[in-house]
Amino acid sequence: MNLILLGAPGAGKGTQAEVICKALNIPTISTGNMLREAVKNGTKSGLEAKSFMDSGKLVPDEVVIGILKDRIAEDDCKNGFILDGFPRTVPQAEALDNMGVTIDKVIEIYVPDEKIKQRLSGRRVCERCGNSYHVDFKPTKVEGVCDACGGKTVIRKDDEPETVNNRLAVYHEQTAPLKGYYEKQGKLVTVEGQEEVSETSKLTLAAIEA
Ligand code: AP5
Repeated sequence: MNLILLGAPGAGKGTQAEVICKALNIPTISTGNMLREAVKNGTKSGLEAKSFMDSGKLVPDEVVIGILKDRIAEDDCKNGFILDGFPRTVPQAEALDNMGVTIDKVIEIYVPDEKIKQRLSGRRVCERCGNSYHVDFKPTKVEGVCDACGGKTVIRKDDEPETVNNRLAVYHEQTAPLKGYYEKQGKLVTVEGQEEVSETSKLTLAAIEA
């Protein structure tokens, strides 16, 4: 099954992707994580992406489409995959269609902007392995230390309040039109993000099975 997770920054796409990945045993492809890794490793696409990401803008379509195309051609994607953070513009969705990829469902996780701001201000990520936590909703066992690898957890650079406002504006302007794009294809299902991660997960898995 090929799935897309759509939603504003901080709506919980990454969190739900982890749950679906375990339930369906298919890989998650997060363009955000791939770009952050590229920045960390100083690759050509990383160097191109860095300034856009730090200011909360989208990385140019051609950079992200190239990265995505290579990734879905890998062996582990043969039985399906979850796209987290791609597509983010109509040209990216068209590129996916033109690659001949059939998308089965697009799950939109809807969370109002005010709640998003609250969530992102509490998010902490591991600087070593990238695992994501929240000071209130998903705390680490030991403060500041990643449960998975023991690395240090830090605030993501683009989670600063001003950058979050930019990311939300970019989402409403450039990514939200994808709802109409996939609604027309009969693939869009909207799940309301709940206070509890597990409640959102129940709704997400039910939407996939329906
Ligand atoms: P990316 O990493 O994709 O960032 P994003 O979409 O802004 O998404 P986030 O990772 O911030 O949030 P999420 O929805 O995954 O939420 P999470 O589960 O972590 O992209 C970063 C940047 O890369 C972009 O700004 C852009 O520059 C570039 N980029 C990436 N893809 C691109 C593309 N296709 N085209 C162009 N540029 C691209 O949850 C957030 C927090 O809330 C966590 O702390 C979590 O624990 C908590 N939480 C989650 N669910 C709940 C719940 N139900 N209740 C309470 N708390 C919850």
